Amino acid sequence: MNITSLFTTNYRNIQRKEMQFSERINVFLGKNAQGKTNLIEALFLIGTLKSIRRADESQLIQFGEQEAKLASLVNKKGIKKEIEIYYYRDKAKRVLVNRNQIYKYADYLGNLNITLFSPDDLIIVKGDASYRRRYLDMLFSQTDKAYLLDLMAYHRILKQRNSVLKDIRSKQRQEHLLDTWDEQICKYANRIVQKRYKNVKFLNEIANKMHKKLIFNENLSIKYIDTIYCGVDENPAEYEKDFILKQKRVRSQEIARGITLLGPHRDDLEIKINGVNTRIFGSQGQKRSVAISLRLGEAEYIQEMYDEYPVLLLDDIFSELDDERKNELLQLLRPEAQIFITGTSLMDFQSMLRHAKVFKIQQGRIEEHHGHEKKRAQTA
Ligand SMILES: Nc1ncnc2c1ncn2[C@@H]1O[C@H](COP(=O)(O)OP(=O)(O)OP(=O)(O)O)[C@@H](O)[C@H]1O
Ligand SMILES: [Mg+2]
Repeated sequence: MNITSLFTTNYRNIQRKEMQFSERINVFLGKNAQGKTNLIEALFLIGTLKSIRRADESQLIQFGEQEAKLASLVNKKGIKKEIEIYYYRDKAKRVLVNRNQIYKYADYLGNLNITLFSPDDLIIVKGDASYRRRYLDMLFSQTDKAYLLDLMAYHRILKQRNSVLKDIRSKQRQEHLLDTWDEQICKYANRIVQKRYKNVKFLNEIANKMHKKLIFNENLSIKYIDTIYCGVDENPAEYEKDFILKQKRVRSQEIARGITLLGPHRDDLEIKINGVNTRIFGSQGQKRSVAISLRLGEAEYIQEMYDEYPVLLLDDIFSELDDERKNELLQLLRPEAQIFITGTSLMDFQSMLRHAKVFKIQQGRIEEHHGHEKKRAQTA
């Protein structure tokens, strides 16, 4: 799987440019605030239609301009696809694959699988449960369209149920109306939770394997914790029954607060190193390496599901690692992977330059770099 080219017009601070990429390593080199992360974000948008900064889409358009375009050729198992995304200030974006417009997010996913490594990943380990759910949901949605559709249905029903709860609180609706919503929400909750349990078990094995290679004496375990069973997943058939039962118990509380208190939107992922909870007790360095192992696990998971390794985006990842960890991380990426990596100094990439195409970025202007500096860094 790889990205052959990228063409941008009026996208963030990047000047109109067509880039042809190496199938192996592509380095985006530049000082701070020149546009490196913007480029990484553009590639992430091509893969997922989502911004890595959770930005409002109009923010992607260059200041003072009315529309932006990203166009890319991608190659998946030898099948080439042309992807075009148009962003507008005053209307929804337009997405085309091989010139055919795509109307649903679920119909787009699967064109290009991407795994992004970023210093912000630390928040998956450190932050509240929503970040861990998002990590799981992004991964499982990329590899399973039915999961994505269930998740979307669940969130739609959740929103409606919450508004019914508020109406009951303000006496605009009667309480028995909740019963149909409970049945609905329970059905989708069950499907999502079952898949999360199953997939997390698999992901746990892979992520632990990668983590052991990164840090040999640490045992990483990740475990899905749901609000109904509190982590006990031996009896999946009981989930729906339990859900209804427990939901009845919290009903008055739900009405008082106007929100749904139980279900996959409240669940969490427990992360432990050698049996100790990393979020609570882990050192900064441990959290960082766990975040990397989760991403390495993600890439391997995609490989298992698709029989193809994703394109890897490594934004600023080296700035936080010592040399030993850097090398270990590079060893753990599959040799056939297409990699996009950002940095401020060519010296950081010495070991990879032989297979690399280097793009220099200065104030949004991109130039491919062939010069003597590359050779010097290689021989240094
Ligand atoms: N819509 C936009 N139009 C014009 N410029 C923008 C837009 N959005 C962001 N920028 C600018 O892009 C610049 C570069 O941002 P980017 O995050 O890509 O830098 P970077 O090279 O990754 O820097 P660092 O090394 O600090 O991470 C920022 O200064 C920002 O103001
Ligand atoms: Mg950056």
